[in-house]
Amino acid sequence: MPSAPKTFHIKSFGCQMNVYDGERMAELLVDTGLAPVAPGEDSDLVVLNTCHIREKAAEKAYSDIGRLRRDDGSRPMIALAGCVAQAEGAEAQARSKMIDIVVGPQAYHRLPEMVAQVARGGRPIDTDLPGLAKFSAFPNRRRAAPSAFLTVQEGCDKFCTYCVVPYTRGAEISRPWTDVVAEAHDLVEAGAREIVLLGQNVNAWSDGDRGLDALIRALADVDGLERIRYTTSHPADMTEGLIAAHGEIDKLMPYLHLPVQSGSDRILKAMNRSHSTDSYLRTIEKARAARPGIAISGDFIVGFPGETEQDFAATLNIVDAVQYAAAYSFKYSARPGTPAAVMDGQIAPEIMDERLRRLHDRIAVHQLAFNRALVGQDTRILIERKGRQLGQMIGRSPWMQSVHLETSAVPGDMIDVTLISAGPNSMAGAVRTEPISRVAA
Ligand code: 5AD
Ligand code: SF4
Repeated sequence: MPSAPKTFHIKSFGCQMNVYDGERMAELLVDTGLAPVAPGEDSDLVVLNTCHIREKAAEKAYSDIGRLRRDDGSRPMIALAGCVAQAEGAEAQARSKMIDIVVGPQAYHRLPEMVAQVARGGRPIDTDLPGLAKFSAFPNRRRAAPSAFLTVQEGCDKFCTYCVVPYTRGAEISRPWTDVVAEAHDLVEAGAREIVLLGQNVNAWSDGDRGLDALIRALADVDGLERIRYTTSHPADMTEGLIAAHGEIDKLMPYLHLPVQSGSDRILKAMNRSHSTDSYLRTIEKARAARPGIAISGDFIVGFPGETEQDFAATLNIVDAVQYAAAYSFKYSARPGTPAAVMDGQIAPEIMDERLRRLHDRIAVHQLAFNRALVGQDTRILIERKGRQLGQMIGRSPWMQSVHLETSAVPGDMIDVTLISAGPNSMAGAVRTEPISRVAA
């Protein structure tokens, strides 16, 4: 039986919300007296913050658990957190005897107490979905990266037929206005220059009659906050107000991640995506009218059950129609308990591989074209981290591209550059002025 831990390590898989949750669990554990160790170092407690969205992601958690046994046969205390924990509950502990704690995404505030239970011989499980309880238990934010995540909304009521999120994250729920604004202030004080508002359906956020656009407007008034982004949006929840905000709020970055999943209306219907290709394209048009040059990114699934070559051709067509600045594409993965998992017409893996390749190639053409069109442009970069070469730093453009540059600037600096070259996945910039603002030391 593992004894009371003094050190911990949290390993997050999957989406940005897991990264955010991981940060907040870490702050909670530090407040209870545990010390974090660097990645790769041995610790007394390991929290695996897992992802269940595709089968491969879920399997990663279990293969990681096996590797946690030490050469002398001992092992750390192991907490299975995240969406695999939520989906599998007690089954997880039956599958691996090494799992001491199973804690779902809405029960993280109970982690310190569960750790204490294990030290007393327990094997606690909490996969309740009580909503906002965890947020009020977390300590205030004290550390923030130059670009910091802030969860404002969790869960999903959309029930796309392929997706586990409504089951693993629960019903759509919005954090209250005052809590979000207070956390934004804390993050800025802790060094954030950019805040990325997170939610599985972030544009469904509301507090009373105020929607995400009102929240963004309020955050734009926070001194020291230079940039605002939000992700992920559902096409059906893109309100006129939110689209208009892109043209009216300078701090709102010209980037919109709007997953379409397929370019075939027949498949969109089978996916239960409450939008059509037409309504999606109209939304993109409006976003471009509000903010010319806005970068559009998206998500795609290839090989959804019943997808024909014709359906897939329609997906390639929508890629051309939108001319994505970036896009993520995935092979359909049947998830237990979802309606699509038992649909007729499951697609062979070889066909999925081949379609994924063609889709990647098509997306890459537009991505490179988008980046190339910005060569010669003057813009401002938020420095995020060191590059591989000496003196090289990496930051982000307003359009989300990674920009490599030679500069003495440090993470958190904003710096004016000219974009001088473009690759498919990043750009290079030349500094025009020294840092124009610096994080207070
Ligand atoms: N199989 C493959 N991809 C999926 N996604 C969600 N569920 C599945 C699944 N079962 C993709 C969607 C979503 C992104 C986060 O993951 O494209 O937008
Ligand atoms: Fe999953 Fe669809 Fe909800 Fe997105 S909108 S989280 S894809 S169910």
